[in-house]
Amino acid sequence: MSSPNAPSTDPAAQLRSLYYAHYNFQFLSAAFEFGLFALLGAEPGLTRVEIAGRLGLREQPARILLLGCTSIGLLRKDGERYYNTEVSAPLATNLEDLPGVFVPWEQHVNYRPMAWFAESLREDTNVGMRREIAGDSDTLYGRLAGDPKLEQVFHNMMGSVSRLCGAELVDQLDLSGYTHMLDVGGGTAVNATNFARRWPHLQVTIVDLPTIVEAANEKIAGMGLSDRVRAVGLDAFNDEFPKGCDCVFFGHFLEIWSIERNKDLLAKAARAVEPEAGVIVVTPVQDDDETGPDIAAALSAYFQTVASGEGMVYTCKEYEEWFAEVGFEPTGRLYVGLGDVAITGTRRPT
Ligand SMILES: C[S@@+](CC[C@H](N)C(=O)[O-])C[C@H]1O[C@@H](n2cnc3c(N)ncnc32)[C@H](O)[C@@H]1O
Repeated sequence: MSSPNAPSTDPAAQLRSLYYAHYNFQFLSAAFEFGLFALLGAEPGLTRVEIAGRLGLREQPARILLLGCTSIGLLRKDGERYYNTEVSAPLATNLEDLPGVFVPWEQHVNYRPMAWFAESLREDTNVGMRREIAGDSDTLYGRLAGDPKLEQVFHNMMGSVSRLCGAELVDQLDLSGYTHMLDVGGGTAVNATNFARRWPHLQVTIVDLPTIVEAANEKIAGMGLSDRVRAVGLDAFNDEFPKGCDCVFFGHFLEIWSIERNKDLLAKAARAVEPEAGVIVVTPVQDDDETGPDIAAALSAYFQTVASGEGMVYTCKEYEEWFAEVGFEPTGRLYVGLGDVAITGTRRPT
């Protein structure tokens, strides 16, 4: 007999789990924010009264939170005592790394904007971000620049995702044939510094929005890499890319933008380099047959509703077609990280 808490295969129950999904996320998010999983990680088997006292909650609110977390498998109740489960255990430590960083990211940046999903589809722009996140920039990145707390939440999440993906990329990408990489939208230099440490001959120029550049250069200096890695302020849409590089890297950047803008960015990359130069696009990926995976669907909704109002998670096939259109020969696909792919190409002779 299956356990009463096993996921149901009953269609009505599956539907119910969908319309209750936002309560479930709030059980998770509130428990994480109060430090409930960290508390039970350190002191398993506390009772409701003890938990309420430690979290500074009245007993009935604590009871509601514990009921919610127990009902969805985040906690286990044995007699009067509560324990983390294997689902919640990873949220008890390393709160600034994966998977914990996703919880404040979804709660503080995406949760309210995502309630404007239908309007964002109808108006074909990121209505959610425009309604819920202060500022006048058209993109989330511009608005985050005006809110240091949210910007930190974003960079904690993005940095953790990039570290995981970067560790695998560094192992698997052969950059021995390149001398100078241009890292477009390179953020806080996670990829650039990984590559520079792995390939001691390699120089990297990061181009990103001016607000990011100072922090990136400080981090690079702290790692003793300023002689080979530097960040420069540049708007990828309004400025040409600097010449002199023999490899252009787009890490978690092109999925943010529309097909037209991506073709323009790739064409700009092709103009900035000589024949035989490389192009590398690292991106979450949609299956070529357009059936998933779920993370590609969720991220696509996020780009439409929050981040930019125009991007989505595209297929490898599309990137390879755009490469060919602007003058790069596709050379391979390398699957890394949490469902990311590195799509590589080489500049064709003109
Ligand atoms: C999703 S993050 C990726 C960061 C980094 N490449 C990584 O993989 O960790 C996108 C980056 O694009 C930058 N960005 C957004 N709009 C930009 C623009 N118009 N020109 C240059 N960089 C931009 C953001 O500041 C941010 O650092």
